[in-house]
Amino acid sequence: MGDLLRRFLPPYRKKAVLGTACKAVEVIFDLLTPMIVAHMIDDGVGGRNMSLVMGLGLLLVVLAFVGYGFTFVTQKLAAEVSQGMGTDIRNALYRQVNALGAADVDEFGTPSLVTRVTNDVNQVQVSVAYGIRMLIRWPFIALGSIVAALLIDIRLGLVFLVCTPAIGAVFFVVMGRSIPLFRAIQGKLDVVSRITREGLEGIRVIRAFGREDHEDARFAHASREQADTSVAVGRLSALLNPSTFLIMNFGVVAILWAGAYRVNAGSLTQGEVMAFVNYMTQVLVSIGYVANLVVIFTRGSASASRIMEVLDTEPRVADGALPDGTLAGTPQGVAAVAFDGAGFTYGGTMPALSGVSFSLPQGEVLGIIGGTGSGKSTLVSLVSRLYDASEGTVSVLGQRVSDLSLKELRRVVAVVPQRASLLSGTIRSNLSWRNPNATDEELWRALECAQADDFVREKEGGLDAAVDIGGANFSGGQRQRLTIARALVGDPRVVVLDDSASALDYATDARLRKALASLPGRPAIIVVSQRVAAVMGAQQILVLDHGRMAGLGTHDELLESCDLYREICLSQLRPEEVAA
Ligand SMILES: Nc1ncnc2c1ncn2[C@@H]1O[C@H](COP(=O)(O)OP(=O)(O)OP(=O)(O)O)[C@@H](O)[C@H]1O
Ligand SMILES: [Mg+2]
Repeated sequence: MGDLLRRFLPPYRKKAVLGTACKAVEVIFDLLTPMIVAHMIDDGVGGRNMSLVMGLGLLLVVLAFVGYGFTFVTQKLAAEVSQGMGTDIRNALYRQVNALGAADVDEFGTPSLVTRVTNDVNQVQVSVAYGIRMLIRWPFIALGSIVAALLIDIRLGLVFLVCTPAIGAVFFVVMGRSIPLFRAIQGKLDVVSRITREGLEGIRVIRAFGREDHEDARFAHASREQADTSVAVGRLSALLNPSTFLIMNFGVVAILWAGAYRVNAGSLTQGEVMAFVNYMTQVLVSIGYVANLVVIFTRGSASASRIMEVLDTEPRVADGALPDGTLAGTPQGVAAVAFDGAGFTYGGTMPALSGVSFSLPQGEVLGIIGGTGSGKSTLVSLVSRLYDASEGTVSVLGQRVSDLSLKELRRVVAVVPQRASLLSGTIRSNLSWRNPNATDEELWRALECAQADDFVREKEGGLDAAVDIGGANFSGGQRQRLTIARALVGDPRVVVLDDSASALDYATDARLRKALASLPGRPAIIVVSQRVAAVMGAQQILVLDHGRMAGLGTHDELLESCDLYREICLSQLRPEEVAA
């Protein structure tokens, strides 16, 4: 919590301090009240002085109103500080999540990141608001009441000195046990939100396969686990109030009992006993609130550490040292993309890719073919540095990718990922990611090359037609073509297509390949595909098998030398097509 406050509180420090100060005034008023009431009883009522009673009564009313005024200001400031800080934290988290690489995001898990940006930030917000409104109030009321009581009568005050440590002990035990549970609850909330998310994303498949019951059961189990932990915490906290109230009420009884003797003996007035009981009640009430505060702060600090965990993560894929613009004047002879013994291992021990070497000259096409899970997507993700190679090196236009800034690298390399993803907005907003200032002409050119111009023309609004969340208002093949067009905007030097034509019919796929080959900027192209037809025209074809290179060469060379390639060809093409 401390780290988070140090980082995000400073802009709001003035307001936080002012809010707390206003609260302090209110506390002082609250502490004065029992004294005034005592005075009223002893000298006003006792002395039959009606005007004194009225005067003091009026004073109480004025104090109450002024107190409310200060409370109002505190509430307003507390809301401003906590909402402002919450917004800042959320923005910082979102920026950080965007800065993190795929590997870091894999490690946290997307649902957990979502919970952190939403629920955890809310918990912190609540803690901050309570901190300003309550932190000063209740502990000070409790302490102030004890001091005031001791000032009235030391011996009767001993009751406080016995009750307070007893209550402290109860707290210590209950809190010690609930704090770990609060952390557990946040973790279980992650699971619930993960299942919700998976269920919603896969809702069509789940329906199609009649898996609703299974999913319902999975969700019920996770939410029961979360509920059980919450109930366990609830049980513990439920102990708190009755036991503290019991102790405090014994205290009140002791005061009334001992007070009666002392009033009889004349060493204490009735008003003072009343004040004592009032202070005791204030202590009682404040301890309840303090308990609440402890719960809120515990939750808040569990959330704060989950937030800091994200903010403190150094992105594994970081900018290299070379300045932007390094790649601008690369001569023609330099390879567009070169792998030298490159490989990558995800979490486990088995590498998903290893020992891959090839060199793709500028303006040429490299086809990559291999069965599912053979490492094709892993290979292409090393080019744009979604991940960093764990062995060997990867270079683009003669520079190691890890030496380049991510901005420079991604300006030069355009990737069409395997899963076409569009964001809600318009066609234009989705196409201009690589170049926010792209002209209509440039966008249409990209759409034409990607074979997407005809259906965009038919959409009402053309380039400004709406795109729903996830591109849900487009077909799978249309989404793919839009993501291809997006990659072509902004003159990339290397275009990577990861199985991006899988949803296109053969004729459209063929037209797309032809258009790509005759792009004016002549970018180098890496085409990943399961279809031989999509790669057989490439200058080089790389055959992947279980993460290793099974062959590299032209279609004809591979037919001669690579058994796996020949097998794939024969399974997909007629003999005369293979020969052609
Ligand atoms: N994020 C990940 N975390 C852990 N393992 C992964 C991850 N992504 C892929 N893998 C594993 O790495 C291997 C290669 O996966 P990859 O996605 O590169 O295959 P692919 O050739 O693209 O398959 P497909 O043709 O189905 O797209 C697979 O065994 C897969 O299980
Ligand atoms: Mg893949």
